[in-house]
Amino acid sequence: MDLAQLTRDLETLAEQTAAAVAAAPDLAAIDAIELDVLGKKGRLTGVLRGIGGLPADERPLVGAVANRVRASIEAAVAARRAVLGSAELDARLRAETSDVTTPGSLHPSIEAMAEISRIFGQFGFVVYESPEIEDDLHNFQLLNIPPDHPARDLWDTLYVDIPGHLLRTHTSPGQIRVMRSVEPPIRALLPGRCFRYEAIDASHGSEFFQVEGLMVDEGTTMGDLRGLLDEFAHAMFGAGKRTRFRPGYYPFTEPSVAFDVECLVCGGVGCPACGRSGWMTILGAGMVHPVVLRNGGLDPERYQGFAFGMGPERISMLRHRINDLRLFLENDLRFLGQFR
Ligand code: DAH
Repeated sequence: MDLAQLTRDLETLAEQTAAAVAAAPDLAAIDAIELDVLGKKGRLTGVLRGIGGLPADERPLVGAVANRVRASIEAAVAARRAVLGSAELDARLRAETSDVTTPGSLHPSIEAMAEISRIFGQFGFVVYESPEIEDDLHNFQLLNIPPDHPARDLWDTLYVDIPGHLLRTHTSPGQIRVMRSVEPPIRALLPGRCFRYEAIDASHGSEFFQVEGLMVDEGTTMGDLRGLLDEFAHAMFGAGKRTRFRPGYYPFTEPSVAFDVECLVCGGVGCPACGRSGWMTILGAGMVHPVVLRNGGLDPERYQGFAFGMGPERISMLRHRINDLRLFLENDLRFLGQFR
């Protein structure tokens, strides 16, 4: 073995490898070439084995050629890999696009919220967003629910690992955020996910949606609330359905009401679905408490408002005669596919 021969062998290897790399059809082929030439037992190492037969002063010369050859192979491999990689990505992107024109359907919670937003949109209500991770201040205190107030028992709360923070138990904290950021007249709708520490059954979930409504203006009355909710109930459940207000309690509204619609199953006669009362409760509402208006930065002497909160899953259950809330989270396509 002499210096000239070894140098030729290295250059031959470089040329052959360059040709193979250029012809490699995919990333797997590149990986194989890399292993075959540069790997521990690869062909470059094989050629260099001949180095031992050279006189000591010639060895560094071969080493220099070998390094140059290795560097050029590595560069060629990297360049080809980049080209093939983006080609494979392009092919995947082309192959894996979803066809948005195939018939699909909205999730029933989303469908209900879209319908609720559409109806209130006709009355000038605008949709706002509010955080899912809330602080105790907005979720409770500013809504007139101080620490240790017994009303906190209405909301079994999931706390997060940030002091003073929790997963919002309702969308009502959005009322404070809207009042603090927009000037009256306010007509706000706040749809969003809520969380509670619940024993899960056919009518309780630990994760569900709510839609909050808030109207604040000068001279807003409970009559306005009643009229608006009637329009809503008729648009959602059918014209002519009877409705009623029933006294209720919420710390953030005074007075507070439950809003009922006549039973959609029996028409008000009384049946098992409505507990034989003839009525179904669809939401809670009331006149915004002066303390809450003040916490929202508004003067209760000048402004009045009403608020309401409803569960879109409950609305959907009533509309479509769905008997189990858990269906909304199970992602069973036999269920979801029915909302075309
Ligand atoms: N936040 C209440 C709940 O989670 C629902 C509610 C009741 C909202 C009355 C309101 C309201 O805005 O006025 O049970």
